[in-house]
Amino acid sequence: KVGDSTNIKWHEGSVDVQTREKTMGQKGCVLWFTGLSGSGKSTVAYTLEHELFKRGNKVVTLDGDNIRHGLNSNLGFTAEDREENIRRIGEVSKLFADAGMITLVSFISPYKRDRLKVRERVGDKFLEVYMKIPLSVCEERDPKGLYKAARAGKIKGFTGIDDPYEEPENAEIEMKVAGEDGVLAPPREMAQEMVKILEQKGFLS
Ligand code: PPS
Repeated sequence: KVGDSTNIKWHEGSVDVQTREKTMGQKGCVLWFTGLSGSGKSTVAYTLEHELFKRGNKVVTLDGDNIRHGLNSNLGFTAEDREENIRRIGEVSKLFADAGMITLVSFISPYKRDRLKVRERVGDKFLEVYMKIPLSVCEERDPKGLYKAARAGKIKGFTGIDDPYEEPENAEIEMKVAGEDGVLAPPREMAQEMVKILEQKGFLS
């Protein structure tokens, strides 16, 4: 018995990992971007997608706002719904990574426990990317006007304002603001740095 499913049996795939990696010219992985709203997760993820495409890599991006339009359109922002949001995306990202895709995933994913569960499920293909941008900087940027709305009480349970964000402690990659004035490196620079890290870790050929 697995979860609520009964009478099911696991089928092994017919293509072994080495053959798949050779054909794809890369190792599948999950780059899991986490951070506050407005920390630049999606911008950097889509810029990285572009950089990887230019190199000829096969890459897919799963983004919070977009996935909530479809697959997860029945979920809101309670702790339970966020947990289910992350669980589903964890499963989808594992499917993509196992298929050999470089999978960029961009969700606030505020709870450590939920991120840890995905890490355990995906295994050593999982790389956490923490967009370590202070709340004050995200709030100042406020690209969608959501912090303003949250401060005015028009949005309840907004991450960082009246809902928690649990910081990663051991993210494989950390992107920080430079200096005390909170200046962000251009997304392209961050993306290029990540390409180097992926090369060093042996995910790109
Ligand atoms: S989570 O916590 O991982 O399930 O959230 P996620 O799926 O990434 O969705 C975050 C985007 O939803 C918008 N939004 C909110 N964010 C946080 N808290 C509340 N209450 C909320 N309501 C709507 C917001 O646009 C987030 O987008 P980003 O790109 O992070 O700014």
